[in-house]
Order: sequence, then C-alpha cells, then structure tokens
Amino acid sequence: MTLRHFESILVTGGCGFIGANFIRYLFECAGYEGRVVNVDKLTYAGNPENLAGLSEGFGDRYRFVQADICDAAAMAEVFARWKVDAVCHFAAESHVDRSIVGPDAFVRTNVNGTFALLEAARRHRAHLVLFHHVSTDEVFGSLGPAGYFTEATPYDPSSPYSASKAASDHLVRAYGRTYGLPVTVSNCSNNYGPYQFPEKLIPLMILNAVEGKPLPVYGDGGNVRDWLFVTDHCQAIWAVMQTGRIGETYNIGGRSERNNLQVVETLCDLIDRRCGSLDAPRQRLITFVTDRPGHDRRYAIDCTKIERELGWHPAVTFEEGLAQTIDWYLANTAWTRRVRSGAYRQWIDQQYGQASGARGMTP
Ligand code: NAD
Ligand code: TYD
Repeated sequence: MTLRHFESILVTGGCGFIGANFIRYLFECAGYEGRVVNVDKLTYAGNPENLAGLSEGFGDRYRFVQADICDAAAMAEVFARWKVDAVCHFAAESHVDRSIVGPDAFVRTNVNGTFALLEAARRHRAHLVLFHHVSTDEVFGSLGPAGYFTEATPYDPSSPYSASKAASDHLVRAYGRTYGLPVTVSNCSNNYGPYQFPEKLIPLMILNAVEGKPLPVYGDGGNVRDWLFVTDHCQAIWAVMQTGRIGETYNIGGRSERNNLQVVETLCDLIDRRCGSLDAPRQRLITFVTDRPGHDRRYAIDCTKIERELGWHPAVTFEEGLAQTIDWYLANTAWTRRVRSGAYRQWIDQQYGQASGARGMTP
C-alpha cells in the first residue's frame, strides 16, 4: 500500500481534546517528519497547554496560529504562507448539551467555518494532497437495541450539534465531487482519554467521583455509546490520511458498547480502588437527573470497512483505556484545576493578548 507523503499539515482545532492528542501522536508516535500548523481560535475548549513542550521539542516543525476558521482571509493566508499540502479538520463546537442551549455557535463554526475552510482549500487546490474531515457517528441518529451504523446508513441527526456536523460532512463531500478536492471523511464514535474537557461524560464523572460530588446520569442511564480510546482514534485518522481512498468515508468505532450506567459504575469502582474509602462506595453518588431533550438511545459503529481496507483495529479495551484515563486525571490535577477555574483563560489572554470564545457553562 503506497503511503501519502505530507510536508505541511494544517490541523484545525489542535488545542482541543482530540486535535491535541492527534498532534502529539504525529510527532511522538507516528514518526511524522514534516510540519504541523495548528489553527485554533481558543474557545473555552481550546487549551494551548495541551501541547506544552512541542514548540521547544520540535522547533519550526510545530506552528500555532490563533485564528477563527470562519475568517476567510486568515485561512487563505495560512494555506499560502505555510504551503499547506494536507488538512486534518477537527475544529468544531463539540458538546451536545451546549448545542441545545445555544445552537448559534454550532452553525457558525461547524457549518460556516467548514465552508470557509473548504473555500480556502479550493483556491489552494493545486498544492493540496488531502483534505480530511473529522466527524461523528451522531450524524446517523439513534439506533434501537440491534444493528450498527455503516457508511451507508442514512443521515438522521437529532441535536443541533449533530445536524451541524451532518451539514459539514455534506459540504466536504460536495467539494470532492464538484471541485475535485481530494477529500476523505471519518465518522467516529465517542472518544475518551487524556485532555478531554470535563463537560463530557467520562472526565466529568471522574472529577466528581474523586471529589465526592453527585454523578448526574441523564434519564434511566440506559443510553448506549460505543467508546473509543483517543489514541486509537488518532491512529485511525492517520491511517485514513495516509492510505484511505479519496472521496471515501470511513466509520471508526471501538467495538466497546456500554450504557451510561455501566460506564459510571465501572469508573466508580476503579476510583474506589485508587482513592481509598473516604467516599466509597462511590456508586452511591449516582443521581438520576432529567433526561437530555432528543437524547439518542444508542450509537454503535460497524467499523469493518476501515479494518478490512486499511488494517486498522481498536487496540485499547474499554477497561484498560478507562483505567489509563482515570490515572491521567489523578496525575494531572493542576491541569484540571486550571481548566475548571478559568485560570488557563488568563494564561491564554496573557500569551495571546485577547479573550476569545464563550466562557459560560464552566463545569
Ligand atoms: P473539543 O471541543 O475538545 O475541541 C474543539 C477545538 O476546536 C478547540 O480547541 C476549540 O478552540 C477549536 N475551535 C472551536 N471553534 C473554532 C473556530 N471557529 N475556529 C478555530 N478553532 C475553533 O472537541 P473534540 O472533542 O476534540 O472534537 C474534535 C472533532 O472531533 C470535532 O469535529 C468533533 O465533532 C469530532 N468528534 C468528536 C468526538 C468526541 O467524542 N469528542 C467523537 C467523534 C467526532
Ligand atoms: P457526552 O459525553 O456529552 O457525549 P455525546 O452526547 O456526544 O454522546 O455524553 C455521553 C452520554 O452520557 C450521553 O448519553 C449523555 C450522557 N451524560 C449523562 O448521563 N450525564 C452527564 O452529565 C453527561 C455530560 C452526559
């Protein structure tokens, strides 16, 4: 299988959870020898500390540009100045609950932002080897107790978040078909692991459980997600970027279905073992709260296509990944404290000289 060669990859949203893990993966695990230009607006979810040490370690090969992907002129400049030959597009508003409270930012960044980026890529087409778009399995809507999402499953999004991601997926594919842009798309299940902002289920529950706070489970806790450790996702994206067929979509999943109650119970037991008896058993902190409107019941990915065509398989079991994630949060309390207190916002403002993005809903 011939590997695509890139010299200058534009990663959008590289200061967020998966983007930061992906950039670290490229430099620290994948043996990538070119340049990464990380374009991030630094919303509440973007934290340059997630990439601390990279500028020192990799010098000119790592560049950070604080910019909004909706800013057409800034995107054009990035493509030209850094001679971008590949894009890995993560930047998005990513939290379903926020999209229910305030959908505007989701349409702006996920739809208009992707459009602005695609336009800049189209104008730079002659130099572009690949435009990879990172998306979610939530575009497919909700499954019943049986069945799986395949690449052929019709789109049926339930939340403003998933609807905005669906729109962006369609735009990316349309630019492939209409303008010949060399695009690939991946639709992934729920990720977890280090550097995830503690508004998503797993990090929120870890921190609350450690602190003996209530663990708010929506509805009856029976909603099922297919959990994927973030480095497995990074490997899959890199496999698609290097060898995926142009114009194709690849589903990425962990083959690790769990309902929310199972996730929270497992996490409580692991934390009991690590943190001693003060708040044990932490399962007693589980509190059932009002359900999320439009809450999809079950997501499950059939990832046969990427396994068969590209030889990628999820490598980390849910139990291993969850234990690693808990250990990371326990070892990185300073990171957590700063992210939750907003102190890192002050650090960003000092570093970059301006406030950016929404700050509401701090957990
Ligand atoms: P995140 O919220 O942790 O990070 C998003 C990043 O994008 C942040 O650094 C933020 O500052 C940046 N950003 C937001 N708006 C921007 C804008 N207008 N211009 C430039 N940068 C902007 O998200 P994540 O969990 O890392 O998800 C990354 C991508 O993966 C998203 O596209 C998401 O839809 C997709 N995805 C996530 C999951 C998951 O479980 N987290 C699963 C499947 C797919
Ligand atoms: P989340 O991490 O927000 O991811 P997504 O909505 O994209 O799947 O939520 C994962 C699951 O956990 C989802 O079914 C909603 C549920 N959930 C809770 O029960 N309590 C919570 O506090 C949160 C944040 C999520």
